[in-house]
Amino acid sequence: MSQHKNITILKIGGSVITDKSSDIGKVQIEEIERICQEISGYSNDLIIVHGAGSYGHPLAKKYDLDNIPDPKGAIITHSSVKSLNEIMVSSLQKAGIDAVSVHPLNNTVSNDGRISDMFLSNIHIMLENGLVPVIHGDVVMDITNTFSVISGDQIVSYLANKLKASRVGIGSIEDGVMDNKGKTLTKITSSNFKEIEKFLGVSKNTDVTGGMLGKVNELLQLCEITGATSYIFNAKKPNNISYFLSGHNIGTAIKK
Ligand SMILES: Nc1ncnc2c1ncn2[C@@H]1O[C@H](COP(=O)(O)OP(=O)(O)O)[C@@H](O)[C@H]1O
Ligand SMILES: [Mg+2]
Repeated sequence: MSQHKNITILKIGGSVITDKSSDIGKVQIEEIERICQEISGYSNDLIIVHGAGSYGHPLAKKYDLDNIPDPKGAIITHSSVKSLNEIMVSSLQKAGIDAVSVHPLNNTVSNDGRISDMFLSNIHIMLENGLVPVIHGDVVMDITNTFSVISGDQIVSYLANKLKASRVGIGSIEDGVMDNKGKTLTKITSSNFKEIEKFLGVSKNTDVTGGMLGKVNELLQLCEITGATSYIFNAKKPNNISYFLSGHNIGTAIKK
């Protein structure tokens, strides 16, 4: 298997592509179409991860999937996030991108909520052949808890480590990580994290995977393991995604 040298992992938050204040799945199709246009010119190896937004979090909460082994609830939640993924993938294809769905329920096992194993051989071959895998937050089979809800953020961190991604960007709905005055922080490191942690909260909408604090924790773990820098930026603002993909740093850097 050849080693990819230039993999970019781009995450689009469920907060951007859905109306996250809704408790049933509500897509933001104009946002998805704009984002697909911004990605369409990109020609390096790319993996897209997207969040579940209102297609996932309210259901995961309703069925308490991390704690109650309810097959029906798990299936309903998975089907719902899969339908958002289908909208995402078909929109990417319409924009000329050779996007393919990769569903975590089918290729991932977790242990107490942390990914322990994800099948990657197909992803390597997809990248070698110019396909763009599109992966999403999902419910997966868990060794200890039967099911667990895996965030797109955790998937980003796992894949960036395993595939040695050269660029990692997480697009959400704020300009980055903000301090208590609403000012965007330029960087978070393991040394200033203690001080910044008190400004970090969960989502203002339903998000069972920890909101901004969850994101920063995943990315700090990544840079502790690999030294990789990642960026949290506003994907709601037009041209930010294309700006990031063209190699510019943007938003809050999470770095060593
Ligand atoms: N310090 C902070 N800086 C930015 N966002 C924060 C902060 N603390 C809490 N948040 C919340 O986290 C949300 C982003 O997390 P989340 O809703 O999980 O987004 P996504 O759907 O993109 O994963 C923001 O919209 C905001 O409500
Ligand atoms: Mg989230």
